[in-house]
Amino acid sequence: MDLPSDLAAALDAAASDFPLRDLETSAERLIARYRSPGRADRPIVAGRVDAVAYAAYRMPATWGAVRSALSAVAERMPDLAPQSLVDVGGGSGAAAWAAGAVFAGSVKEITVLDQVGEALELGRQLARKAFSGALRHAEWRQVRFPATIPEADLVTVSYVLSELSPEDQDSLVRASAAGATTIAVVEPGTPDGYQRILAARDALIAMGLRVVAPCPHSAQCPLGERDWCHFAARIHRSPLHRRLKGGDLGHEDEKFSYVVATRVPVPDGSPARVLRHPQIRKGLVMMQLCEADGTTAQTLVSKRQGETYRVARDTEWGDLWKPVRDS
Ligand SMILES: C[S@@+](CC[C@H](N)C(=O)[O-])C[C@H]1O[C@@H](n2cnc3c(N)ncnc32)[C@H](O)[C@@H]1O
Repeated sequence: MDLPSDLAAALDAAASDFPLRDLETSAERLIARYRSPGRADRPIVAGRVDAVAYAAYRMPATWGAVRSALSAVAERMPDLAPQSLVDVGGGSGAAAWAAGAVFAGSVKEITVLDQVGEALELGRQLARKAFSGALRHAEWRQVRFPATIPEADLVTVSYVLSELSPEDQDSLVRASAAGATTIAVVEPGTPDGYQRILAARDALIAMGLRVVAPCPHSAQCPLGERDWCHFAARIHRSPLHRRLKGGDLGHEDEKFSYVVATRVPVPDGSPARVLRHPQIRKGLVMMQLCEADGTTAQTLVSKRQGETYRVARDTEWGDLWKPVRDS
C-alpha cells in the first residue's frame, strides 16, 4: 500500500519545517514510549515537533491499518455509505484520511477529536492539501475524554485505548458507540492490543451492535488464551520514514487487531476469515479460518480442486475465504 500522494506530499512539507535531528530525537522518544503501552497521565505527544515526528514515522502505519480494517467492512457491506465520520483520539487524522479513502464517494462531514492542540493543528495543515473536500473542510476539535462523542454514521477509535485505564477504555468505547451507526476500533496487533479489542468487542455486542469484521460472527471469540487475532498491512516507506524509523527495508508491515460493529443489518452468511498466512506446499494450500458459526478450523485445498485451488493460492492473511462452489 502506498500513502495517498496528497497525504505523502503534505507530510513531507510539514516535516521540512524542522531540522531532521529534532524529528529523530522526538521520534526516538515516542517509539520508546509506545513500545511499553500503558496509561498516560498527560499527553504523550507534547508539542509541535512531537506532533510532526509522530505523524511522519507513525501515521503511514496507522493509516494503513485503519484502511485495511475499513476495506474489510466495505467488502462485507458494499452498500455501506457513511456520510458523517467522527475520529476519536484522531491526532493528526490518520483514520480520517483512511476513511476518506475507503468511503471517498460518501463521506461528507469529518470531525476529529483529540486532546493535543498541536496534533490537531498539524492535522488541519495536512488536510488543507487533501484532494478530498470532506478532509479539507474537516473540523478539528480539542477535547479531553471522558466527553460526549458526537453522533456519526462512522466512528473510528484508532490506537487510542492503550493510553487509558481499563475503566476509561470501556467508557470511551461505549461513549463512542452510543451515537455511532458503525464503529471501528483498531489497536496494535499485539497480545495486549488484542485483549483491548476483545473487551471493546464484548462492550459493543452488549450494546446491541453486530460484528462486521474481522469476525464473521458475533459469538464469543474462539481463539484460546495463547493465540491472538491480528492482521498486517504492508506500507511502502518514504525516505523520511526510513530515516526516522532507522529501517533499511522499503516497506513496513504494521500488525494490528481490530473490530468493526454496526447497527445496520449485516448480510447473512459471511464467508470465513483467514487468520494466518496461508501455508503453500506442493499442490496444497493450508488455511486457518474463523468460521461464521463461531469456530476456527484448518482447511486444506488441493490442486485437484481446480479453480478453488487457484483462488486459495491468491488468498491472503486477513482475506475472506471464498471457495468456488462447483469445483
Ligand atoms: C497513539 S495516538 C493515535 C492517533 C491516531 N488515532 C492514529 O491512529 O494515528 C493516540 C491519540 O489519542 C489521544 N488521546 C489519548 N488519551 C486522550 C484523552 N483522554 N482525551 C483526548 N485524546 C486522547 C492522544 O492525544 C493521541 O493523539
